[in-house]
Amino acid sequence: MITHYADLELQTVSIQGVKQAYVGGLQLPILHESSNFIRFQLTPFTTLSFKETYEAIYPVHFAIQVPYSQFNNISSFIRQSGLFILKQENGQYIDETDGRKNLYFRDGDGNLLEIIAHEYIKENQIELSGSLKAMYLREIGFPVKSVPIFRDWLKSTLKMKTERDQDTFNFVISGTVHAVVVSKERPWIPISMKALPPKMLVTLGTTDINFMNKLANKLDNSFLESDKVYFSKEGYNFCVKYSPDFKSSLLGELNLPLLS
Ligand SMILES: [Fe+2]
Repeated sequence: MITHYADLELQTVSIQGVKQAYVGGLQLPILHESSNFIRFQLTPFTTLSFKETYEAIYPVHFAIQVPYSQFNNISSFIRQSGLFILKQENGQYIDETDGRKNLYFRDGDGNLLEIIAHEYIKENQIELSGSLKAMYLREIGFPVKSVPIFRDWLKSTLKMKTERDQDTFNFVISGTVHAVVVSKERPWIPISMKALPPKMLVTLGTTDINFMNKLANKLDNSFLESDKVYFSKEGYNFCVKYSPDFKSSLLGELNLPLLS
C-alpha cells in the first residue's frame, strides 16, 4: 500500500522567493539546493521541492497535518511568518468544526497552503518536525475533469480508498495520504480560487517492494529506476518510491482512517 507522500515537487518562478517564504517564513531546513532547484525537509519522511521554470504557475493546494493540541500556537507562528493568511468563509482565520481545525495561507507563488489538525489523530505517536511541528503531509489537490474517473483510477491502480464516493470533491486515502480530487469547476475554499491543474511531481512512498514492482508491470508507459517507478495520469506526474525506513505500524498508531 501507499503509506505517505515522500516528496512534492512544484514549479516556481523564483527560488529566492521560495526561500523567503519557506526558510525565512516557515523555517524549513534546506536539504539540497542548486541554481534552479531547492528541496526542504518537511518531516523525516517527506520533502518539499521547487524547480525554477520560465512558465506561468498554476497554484497547488496542499495541507500539512499538525497536532490538534498545539494548533493555536502553530497558527500564531504562521501568522507571524510574514506569509499571507486567508480569512475563512466565516471571516475568522481559524476554522474549527467537528474536531477539526484549519488555517489557510499562501506562499510567494500563490500556492494555497493549509495547516490542519484532527482531534481523532493520536498525536503522541509521531515526531513533530520544525517550527511548523509538522506530523505529515496530508493533502495534495488534484483538479480534474472527471472526479469519478480519476478517483477510480487511484483506487484500482494505487489501491487507495474512499469513505464515500462523490462526484465533485472526493478524498482518496491511503495511509497518511489524502488525495483531494476535485472537479476543475469547483473552486478551492476559502477564497473561491480557480482549481487549475498544476504541474507537479508527486512521490508516494510504500514500504512494500512487491507493490511497487507489480505497479510497474501493470502500468503502460511507466519507467522503473531501482527503487522508484514513474508514471503519469491526467497530466500529473507520479513516482512511487520504495521507502523501507517508513514505520508502517505508525499508521495504526495515528488512528488513520480506512486502514483495513
Ligand atoms: Fe485542504
